[in-house]
Amino acid sequence: MKDERLPPAAERLRAWLEFYDELGLTPLYRRRRSDAPASEASVPQRAATLPVPAAATFVSAAPTPPPLTLSLFEEAPPRREHESLEQIRAELGECTRCKLSQHRRTIVFGEGSSHAQLVFVGEGPGAEEDAQGRPFVGRAGQLLTHWIESLGLKRSEVYICNVIKCRPPGNRTPERDEIETCSPFLFRQLESLRPKLICCLGSVALQTLLGKSVSITRVRGQFFDWRGLKLFATFHPAYLLRNPGVQREVQEDLRRICQFLG
Ligand code: URA
Repeated sequence: MKDERLPPAAERLRAWLEFYDELGLTPLYRRRRSDAPASEASVPQRAATLPVPAAATFVSAAPTPPPLTLSLFEEAPPRREHESLEQIRAELGECTRCKLSQHRRTIVFGEGSSHAQLVFVGEGPGAEEDAQGRPFVGRAGQLLTHWIESLGLKRSEVYICNVIKCRPPGNRTPERDEIETCSPFLFRQLESLRPKLICCLGSVALQTLLGKSVSITRVRGQFFDWRGLKLFATFHPAYLLRNPGVQREVQEDLRRICQFLG
């Protein structure tokens, strides 16, 4: 039954809320202005936000949507309480959420300082990492350690992790379903750390965090926004080992990181 006492705007709003509710699209919220993306690149496509569907996707009989400026929508969706890395690790458990669990020896969660200002995100563990349960301890890892030290930091002062936490057979590139299953744990690690800078090593890390396909060659050396944090991208150290010709670009990127961290 309609409530005749409601003013027309409130009545239209209620009709819309009921309409969304019937479609199962609850709860609604409006992004705070301060949370708005600085650029297109700052919108992770898989962000855990519920987009308000465009009116054009609905049947024409539906009422016109009210402008989403009402205080009712002012709050962002409830965020998790601050989680510690230990809590996230505990929830991951002896993960069997994807097929990579069948072949791995060890889950490589990540390591470093929980107060790190700088976080490196790689692709996924290789053979050495799988054996030791630590990220970046093989040849590419030695090079990454060298990069970190060239920034005037120790490995223990940064945090190092990967998009996926289990080694893919034969070190193949992680598959989409594996990334989709594992990356929420990475996102939670980054939210827990909230560093001054996240440095993506290579395109898998960059594309996972940006939620879209981008060329590392085109965007390396650039800064992006990720959930209110700064994101940077450079080549994966394994790529540099195979392509020594990009050494100069990597040095330039390290200089930018150094400058940014101050
Ligand atoms: N390559 C990665 O991307 N991550 C590691 O941990 C090791 C090598």
